[in-house]
Amino acid sequence: MTASSKVSIELGARTGGGAAVLDLEELLATRLLVQGNSGSGKSHLLRRLLEQSAPWVQQAVIDPEGDFVTLADRFGHVVVDAQRGEADLQNIAARVRQHRVSVVLNLEGLDSEQQMRAAAAFLGGLFDADRDVWYPVLVVVDEAQLFAPSAAGEVSDEARKVSLGAMTNLMCRGRKRGLAGVIATQRLAKLAKNVAAEASNFLMGRTFLDIDMARAADLLGMDRRQAEMFRDLESGNFVALGPALARRPLPVRIGAVETSARSTSPKLLPLPEASSGEGAHDLIFTPGPDEARSLIPRRAVSAPVPSTADVLAQLARSGPRAQPAPVETVPTLSPEQRQAAIDLALREILAESDAAFRTIPVLYQDFLVRCRIRRVGGEPLSLSAFRRRLAVAHAGIDLAEAEAEDSPWAEVLTMAGGLPDDMQGVFLALARAAFDRRPCPSDAEVARAYGSRSPGRARRLIAYMEERQVVVCRLDGRGRRIVAIPGLAWETEPGDPNAAATEPVPAATGTD
Ligand SMILES: Nc1ncnc2c1ncn2[C@@H]1O[C@H](COP(=O)(O)OP(=O)(O)O)[C@@H](O)[C@H]1O
Ligand SMILES: [Mg+2]
Repeated sequence: MTASSKVSIELGARTGGGAAVLDLEELLATRLLVQGNSGSGKSHLLRRLLEQSAPWVQQAVIDPEGDFVTLADRFGHVVVDAQRGEADLQNIAARVRQHRVSVVLNLEGLDSEQQMRAAAAFLGGLFDADRDVWYPVLVVVDEAQLFAPSAAGEVSDEARKVSLGAMTNLMCRGRKRGLAGVIATQRLAKLAKNVAAEASNFLMGRTFLDIDMARAADLLGMDRRQAEMFRDLESGNFVALGPALARRPLPVRIGAVETSARSTSPKLLPLPEASSGEGAHDLIFTPGPDEARSLIPRRAVSAPVPSTADVLAQLARSGPRAQPAPVETVPTLSPEQRQAAIDLALREILAESDAAFRTIPVLYQDFLVRCRIRRVGGEPLSLSAFRRRLAVAHAGIDLAEAEAEDSPWAEVLTMAGGLPDDMQGVFLALARAAFDRRPCPSDAEVARAYGSRSPGRARRLIAYMEERQVVVCRLDGRGRRIVAIPGLAWETEPGDPNAAATEPVPAATGTD
C-alpha cells in the first residue's frame, strides 16, 4: 500500500471561510450523492470534482446530456458514443477497466429506454471486469433518477429492471470491485431508495419540494425544520456531510471549473432582423442551399460516431494511468484489535458533551469516520446495532457484563431487542431507573430520551411499551407514576409525570 498518503481535492470554499475539501480515498469507500433542483449547480459540481480528481483516479461518466464530452480535450477522457449495440458497450467497458482509461459515455440523442439499456450494459461491463483489474474508478452518474427511477415510468419494465439492477450493483456492491459511485439527482423522491441509501456522503443543493426536502433531511439525519435551509440555497451552494466531506453539515460554495459544459442554459438574444415580416416567410418556406441534409436524421449531422473498433483501438493506445492505488489499502486487524477499536470509537463519541443533541445518523457517521481512522475495515457495526450499543451505553449498562448469561440485564436486553430500534434507548433508561430505584422519569425526560420535545409522544411510547408487556405502569395516590419491569423485581420510585426535565438526559436515541 502507498502508506496512508491522503489525497484531498478542493471542491470550493466553505461559506464561513476556508477551503472545502474532499478526501478522495475516503470517497472511494463511501460514495457520494448530490441532490438539487434543476439549475442548482449539480453538473457544475460534478465537473469540478472530475477536473480536480482527474490526475488521481480513473473516471467513468454516465452522461445523459452530452455535457461532459468537453473533458476529452483538456483531460484526455475518451468519449464513448452510446449509439451502438449493448454487447459492444459491455466490451468497451471491460477494456476501459483493463486499460484504466477515463471515459465519458455520451447518451445524448437516445430515448429514455435506450439510455437505460446502454447505461446498464456499460455499467455491467465495468462491474463484471476480471478481479485482477479491480482498480479504483470514480463512476459519476448525472441525472441518476433516469437510470434508477423510484417508480415505473413510460419505459418497459425490462429496461427499468436492467438499469436499476446496474445502478444497484454500482452503489451496493461496487466498492469491493473498486467502483466508487458518485450520483446526482434533481429529485431525491424520484431516485430509487436503495440506490440513494448506499451513499454516505451528501451534497445537498437548492430543493423546493417538501417531499425531496423530507428525504434529504432523513438521509442527513437533520430534522425537517433544519432542512428548510435547502430551499434558500443559491445556485452553486451546497450543504456537505459525510466521512469524505465534513462531520457536521457544512455549507460550501463550489469553485470554478476549467472546461465548459457544452450545453449551456438558454440565453435570450436579440432576434436577427430577417426573423420577422416577409423575410421570415422566405426563410422557412424557401429551400436553402443545403436542403438535402435536412432529410438525413438530425443525429447524423453532428460529429460522426466512431466505430467500436476505433474506440477499442483508442482505449488500447491510452495505456494505464499514473498513481495506481490498490483497492484495499487497509491492513487487517485481529478480531480483538478490531473490537477494541470499535469500543474506543463508541466511547469517544459518548464522551463528547454534545452527543445527546446530535441525531443517531450523524453520530453514526462520526462513528464510521473514527473506525476508518483506526483502519477498522468492512462494516464495523450496522446502524441498528450501533443504535442499540449506544442505547445500552447511555443507560449506563456495561455491555460485556450485561451479555453475561446470568446477568439480569441479559433479559432486559432481550426485551429491548423486541422493540423498534428507536424505542430501545427509552426502555433501557426506564429499566435503569427501576434498577437504581430512582423516581420514574417524567414525560419531558422520556421525550428527551427519545429525541423529542412532545410529552404526548412520551405517553404514547410508554403506552406502547406497556402493550408490549415490557413495562408495567401504575400511579400512586398522588398521581405519581411508577414503572416496573415485569419478571424482574425492579420498580422505580414514584415520579411526577408532569415535572420538567431536570438534567439533560443523554440519550437522543430516536428521531422526532
Ligand atoms: N459554483 C458555481 N459557480 C459558477 N457557476 C455555476 C456554479 N454552479 C452552477 N453554475 C452555473 O449555473 C448554471 C446551472 O448549473 P448546472 O450545473 O447546469 O445545474 P444542474 O446540473 O443542477 O441543473 C450553469 O450555467 C452553471 O455554469
Ligand atoms: Mg445538470
